[in-house]
Amino acid sequence: MRADCLARVAGAADERELEAVRVAYLGKKGELTALLRGVAGLPEGERPAAGRLVNDCKAAIQTALDDRRSALESQARARELSASRVDFTLPAYGESPGHVHPLTQTTAEICEILCGLGFSVAEGPEVEDDYHNFEALNIPADHPARDMQDTFFVSGKRVLRTHTSPVQIRVMERSKPPIAIIAPGAVYRHGDDDATHSPMFHQVEGLLVDRGIHFGHLKFVLTTLLRELFGAESAVRFRPSYFPFTEPSAEVDIACVICGGRGKVAANGGEGCRVCKGTGWLEVLGAGMVDPAVFAHVGYDSEVYTGFAFGLGVERIAMLRYGISDIRLFYGGDLRFLEQF
Ligand code: FA5
Repeated sequence: MRADCLARVAGAADERELEAVRVAYLGKKGELTALLRGVAGLPEGERPAAGRLVNDCKAAIQTALDDRRSALESQARARELSASRVDFTLPAYGESPGHVHPLTQTTAEICEILCGLGFSVAEGPEVEDDYHNFEALNIPADHPARDMQDTFFVSGKRVLRTHTSPVQIRVMERSKPPIAIIAPGAVYRHGDDDATHSPMFHQVEGLLVDRGIHFGHLKFVLTTLLRELFGAESAVRFRPSYFPFTEPSAEVDIACVICGGRGKVAANGGEGCRVCKGTGWLEVLGAGMVDPAVFAHVGYDSEVYTGFAFGLGVERIAMLRYGISDIRLFYGGDLRFLEQF
């Protein structure tokens, strides 16, 4: 029986066959189990020798079963590995942790420069009410100035903020001068959708209010910011403009980064520069001295306090710095574009 059993163990082709052999000999009704039980019925003198014989046999079979099982397991594993297409010798993929979006980078740089000048960052909601987005900024209902910013209406008097200027109001409502804040964030205007305009874009607002603040302070802060961004030699121009919430107001231009302010491009055969449309200047932001009507809305005494505010377009700055001709590239999610920054 021992020889038969060991031969069957050796010949078992898989684990199921092996298990069948184990059950046939060592199972509850197995041949060897029956023998073991039979030992008790033998005459007393024969029991020790018979018991030893049966137990030796059981141990030998058990060892053979264990050996065969591990041999079958490693065969099965080797078969699996050779059948699978995974090549374990290939080098592993490198980590690609991604990086910060160019608009986020530009926003962070602008904030860092302004925080270095003593401003701190404030936030406000993107779904804004009519009062903060318009009314308190001296843009009454039905005033033609509302047409300057095509508005997305959410419901009733709620809008998607058309600029970051409502954050000025929110900050002044909850604190007293002196105030020096910047407010970066997304803003929304419908109807704008071309190479230089997007229905969603980003601004950084600035507001500084204290006693004795004048236009010279505004010029210093913005000139410093733009020269940090575009180089110490960059020419900066303040041009009279109109915003309902500032008086006087200005739009601020920098010398065109493509033609160096000449309005012509030599590589073009002396043709007019397309980026600045031959003017030599590029508009980057709006600014001005806070209008007393705005102070009245937040309960500041405009006889005591004066202040300046500005709002710049982050996309515009990033496009000029990196020479990007289409604003839509920022939102396309194309890694070939994004990975260049
Ligand atoms: C404003 O939004 C004012 N709130 C700025 C301001 C703040 C003036 C405080 C005075 C005091 P304006 O609509 O010009 O102004 O927008 C400011 C900047 O946002 C522009 O100079 C431009 O860089 C950018 N911008 C405007 N519209 C778009 C658009 N559709 N897509 C991308 N950038 C835009």
